[in-house]
Amino acid sequence: MNNQLRSLIQRRFEARRLLRMGGKTPHWRVLEIGCGRAIVSVGDVTAIRADDETYDAVFDFGIIHHVPDWRAALREIRRVLKPGGRLFAEEVHERFISHPAFP
Ligand SMILES: C[S@@+](CC[C@H](N)C(=O)[O-])C[C@H]1O[C@@H](n2cnc3c(N)ncnc32)[C@H](O)[C@@H]1O
Repeated sequence: MNNQLRSLIQRRFEARRLLRMGGKTPHWRVLEIGCGRAIVSVGDVTAIRADDETYDAVFDFGIIHHVPDWRAALREIRRVLKPGGRLFAEEVHERFISHPAFP
């Protein structure tokens, strides 16, 4: 998370919702794309440095809408997900992002 308010909201509310959606995933191999300040490696979601079918789940917290070639990003995510793997995406709705009040 890039800011502390987002971090708090995620811990208090979104984490519970994610648990309800996917349950606990103790043995899953997961990738968070565009993880902001929690960086341990830097990469481009349109060219993920991972073999095909590496991950059980990929998490996107508000990054795909920043990627001009978002279709390439989704292709890459699909490539690195194992069959039956899951993409958890929290994205900005078009109505919100195109609102005049949105910076
Ligand atoms: C709005 S921030 C969200 C950061 C974090 N996920 C959060 O919720 O606080 C968007 C993030 O997307 C990343 N990003 C933009 N284009 C990217 C790309 N092509 N590949 C990977 N990350 C990208 C930026 O570096 C930034 O960290």
